[in-house]
Amino acid sequence: MTVALAFDIYGTLIDPHGVIEQLQEHVGERAPQFSQVWRDKQLEYTWRRALMRRYRDFGVCTREALDYADTLLGTGLDDGAKAALMQAYRELPAYPDVAASLESLRGDARKLYAFSNGTADMVDAVLAHAGIERFFDGVVSVDALQTFKPDPAVYAHVLKVADVEPGQCWLVSSNGFDVIGAVAAGMRAAWLKRSAQVVFDPWGIEPDAIISSLDELPQTVA
Ligand code: 2OP
Repeated sequence: MTVALAFDIYGTLIDPHGVIEQLQEHVGERAPQFSQVWRDKQLEYTWRRALMRRYRDFGVCTREALDYADTLLGTGLDDGAKAALMQAYRELPAYPDVAASLESLRGDARKLYAFSNGTADMVDAVLAHAGIERFFDGVVSVDALQTFKPDPAVYAHVLKVADVEPGQCWLVSSNGFDVIGAVAAGMRAAWLKRSAQVVFDPWGIEPDAIISSLDELPQTVA
């Protein structure tokens, strides 16, 4: 039986805070705070746009969140600095456990997908820059549906692309809202708990597995 693994990208395989060094050049010691506001607002914009049915793609949400963070923190970034940070977002690093885990997960009975809020163009760029694009059978972007995770339609879409039943498809994500969305859509899900401090949302919808590193994934989905 073929099993499909749908990997979330930002926060799971790719570190959205990998832009902190570049941020330090512009905002100094406020870089970690800036990065957190940027990421939090980016996700908030996806949820609000999906709910309002005012879709703009993930690149737009990311740029608008950057503008928000700059205004909130009074950091006065000029257009050149913002363009450089947006470019850096296309070149974010993979987490250290990613390449070896993906390599060991490849196999005839498994299909691996990059499954993201990001546009295919953004995801292709960041995977290529991180040198991990070769591990995937395809990139599945929510952009095809003009909505965002956790709209049930996006989980139905990844199942359709992978051509598998819900029980044959694992979502692997560090984002709790994404895991809950996938489980609610009937998929299996592994929550990647990358930090001891993060807490899973107490909605009574639980992941099938909780892992602290992708190294644990091959035995989890075996
Ligand atoms: C992703 O879809 C949610 O940022 C996350 O890649």
